[in-house]
Amino acid sequence: MGSCGGFQRLSSPFTTYVIFIVLMTLLKYCNAMIVLEQWKERTRDHHHHHGDNDDSAGSTVLRSKCDLFEGRWVYDETYPLYKDSSCPFIEQEFDCPKNGRPDSFYQKYRWQPNACSLPRYRGQDLLRELKGKKILFVGDSLSLNQWQSLICMLHVAALNSKYTLHRVGDLSTFTLPEYEISVMLSRNAFLVDIEKEKIGTVLKLDSIENGNSWKGYNVIIFNTWHWWLHKGHQQPWEYIQVGNKIEKDMNRLDAFREAIRTWSKWVDSNVNPNITKVFFQSTSPTHYNGEEWNGTSSSTCKGQSRPIGGSRYSTGPPQAEVIVKQVLGQMAKPVSLLDITTLSQLRRDGHPSVYGIYGGRENDCSHWCVPGVPDTWNQLLLAMLVNK
Ligand SMILES: *[C@@H]1O[C@H](CO)[C@@H](O)[C@H](O)[C@H]1NC(C)=O
Ligand SMILES: *[C@@H]1O[C@H](CO)[C@@H](O)[C@H](O)[C@H]1NC(C)=O
Repeated sequence: MGSCGGFQRLSSPFTTYVIFIVLMTLLKYCNAMIVLEQWKERTRDHHHHHGDNDDSAGSTVLRSKCDLFEGRWVYDETYPLYKDSSCPFIEQEFDCPKNGRPDSFYQKYRWQPNACSLPRYRGQDLLRELKGKKILFVGDSLSLNQWQSLICMLHVAALNSKYTLHRVGDLSTFTLPEYEISVMLSRNAFLVDIEKEKIGTVLKLDSIENGNSWKGYNVIIFNTWHWWLHKGHQQPWEYIQVGNKIEKDMNRLDAFREAIRTWSKWVDSNVNPNITKVFFQSTSPTHYNGEEWNGTSSSTCKGQSRPIGGSRYSTGPPQAEVIVKQVLGQMAKPVSLLDITTLSQLRRDGHPSVYGIYGGRENDCSHWCVPGVPDTWNQLLLAMLVNK
């Protein structure tokens, strides 16, 4: 009140004029600064396209106020982090070199955050951080993709150490007994329950009995999205249920939101953050529409051999991503968003395309080659675990 009164007493026409001029000058100065920053950003991107001589490479400094997920891809001779031939258990659908993919630039890009640098990857750091830990991935085939990459990274980091790998039903388990590390994958497309009932298969948006098998882990990485859009013969349910209401179908984004809320309540009431760190893997993008990057709708990931330069993707974040961020923002327990959406949007070149499981008969622009982009997701996961 007092300072406002003071301002009113001062406001003769002349002082109003002076204040106006000062404000306009400040505004111009700010605009100039923004333009300058944009120019700096552009020249930096330009510079990086011409070589891998990056002054921050090798630095292990991770400044605390840095957005790891805001950055660009830079060419790096030392990549990939491992050869596909040194990881004997890559599923055929991700093993692009073995399926005949002739180019290899797509393996040679390192993620470079704009405001800091990711620590240079060392297998020993990964082993040290995960030693004694039980890690669980829960989700669809994008979780399988990241799990595959992580167990390859672990195996290659400890080549002479015995490992076990087996699958029982929907649960796959990889262990490194010497380091007491286990990394599991629970195949679960929706997170919420899907059950066979008399009327048919029902997707239950507010039921999450599944969660009983997610207890006792040190790190859990959740993901769900792609299956929410499936229709026709790819849709594994016949009814969708919320409370007592059973429907043939509903708006898929609304259904997704409801399910993510159910999941978030499960986390809030079941996770002890002193024991378990929870991550949510953000939406993994597909590249079926070339209009998103160069104007022709007929082009897809097929034949793409280089990432998109810079830090921006034309479409911005997918709607599912906006929902995930909203729900995470309302949670009581800490959940870290493994925010791989934008950085993966820039990687139209990273998919199996016709070098996936069905050979030339299918064009897979949804999953990712291993080694490849999911290795970076795991590098970021490691950086977040170390930084906490
Ligand atoms: C977690 O640890 C803190 C500090 O040791 C303690 O105060 C808190 O009660 C613990 N929370 C749970 C849920 O065990
Ligand atoms: C767009 O992509 C297609 C397919 O990769 C390519 O043939 C074409 O040259 C590209 N056009 C531009 C303008 O980059």
